[in-house]
Amino acid sequence: MDEYREADREALLALKCSVFGGTILENERRRFAWEFDRNPARDWGLPPALVVRDGGELVAGFTFVPSSVRVAGERVSGAAGIDLCVAASHRGQGLGRQVVEPFWAEGLCTFPFSTGVNPASLHLFSSCGATLLGGAEEVTLHAWFRDGAPTEPDEGEVRPVAVVEDIPADWDACWADLVVDHPLVLERDAASLRWRYVEFPFARPVVLAASDDDGRTCGLAVVQADPGLDRVYLLELLTAKDDAAAQRGLVAAALGLARESGLATLYYSTRRAEQQPILRAAGLQPVPGAYPTYMGKLNLPGASRPDAVSGWTVSLGDGDQLFNVGEPRPGDGPSPTML
Ligand SMILES: CC(C)(COP(=O)(O)OP(=O)(O)OC[C@H]1O[C@@H](n2cnc3c(N)ncnc32)[C@H](O)[C@@H]1OP(=O)(O)O)[C@@H](O)C(=O)NCCC(=O)NCCS
Repeated sequence: MDEYREADREALLALKCSVFGGTILENERRRFAWEFDRNPARDWGLPPALVVRDGGELVAGFTFVPSSVRVAGERVSGAAGIDLCVAASHRGQGLGRQVVEPFWAEGLCTFPFSTGVNPASLHLFSSCGATLLGGAEEVTLHAWFRDGAPTEPDEGEVRPVAVVEDIPADWDACWADLVVDHPLVLERDAASLRWRYVEFPFARPVVLAASDDDGRTCGLAVVQADPGLDRVYLLELLTAKDDAAAQRGLVAAALGLARESGLATLYYSTRRAEQQPILRAAGLQPVPGAYPTYMGKLNLPGASRPDAVSGWTVSLGDGDQLFNVGEPRPGDGPSPTML
């Protein structure tokens, strides 16, 4: 087992394409450049991946997309473990475990995490001490647009909302006030949100900003179309807990964009109880079942802290669960957008 070197990039992406069906090498190259070269958390200095070589051939890899994380307000290092793969010819020999174990162990980063696990990664990551958030704390809601539009919120104050091309210049001041409500959350300062949503290399999500009476930004939402699955995702709904007017405005604007897109359904997943009456009033209905899956481990000095992981405010935008949305396919026309 070895740390990734820059010269491994093509071989690692080729291995990924050989293991995961439907991947296109050119898209992988673009995504990898965004994941690492532009990532504002690259200064934590984590290895981009661990790999295993057999002779000159790269036969296993596990990739770590760096992220800053706020634990009780303090900024610590994190990483999303993605694209775990072992060449079909080399499976069942412990290579998967070799690249997985150091990721979760103390030393690599303070908060390793992973999203969208399958039975194999669930088994491996659990055995390394990662805690599964099985969707039990989240409510996933959806609005279905085909049989008439869901109702709009019809009472209460609504803050003005605008589509913005970039994360507003005053967002960091707003985020500094909001972050105190989150015991554990991936960093959502302007640099992190800009990387994740404005610089995303494929079809761009739409960023919505709500403003208060003085014209200051008091909330953000992010909406992303997934035409391949006939869906729209509400990825972020970031406001102060008690700012129902900003929540109403952002939800109404997100629903408006989703309805205009012509796609069938909007999905949103939240752990925040105070958002639910507003979402229900706007016509969203809970989806039965526990979705989606997140795993994390908090490596703080002393003991591992599984309880702390359950305080993670997850978002559909966390990790790589939507990293492939809107990537170009042969024969596509121009990239789909929502505007
Ligand atoms: C999953 C994968 C990485 C495992 O690699 P591997 O080198 O064969 O795994 P190892 O030999 O190190 O086995 C590690 C453990 O995982 C278990 N495991 C492997 N595949 C499994 C599966 N499909 N379901 C449940 N457990 C599985 C093994 O039984 C072993 O358990 P143990 O150590 O407790 O005895 C490999 O099968 C692969 O590349 N699969 C396709 C891509 C994939 O599914 N990636 C993960 C999700 S992104």
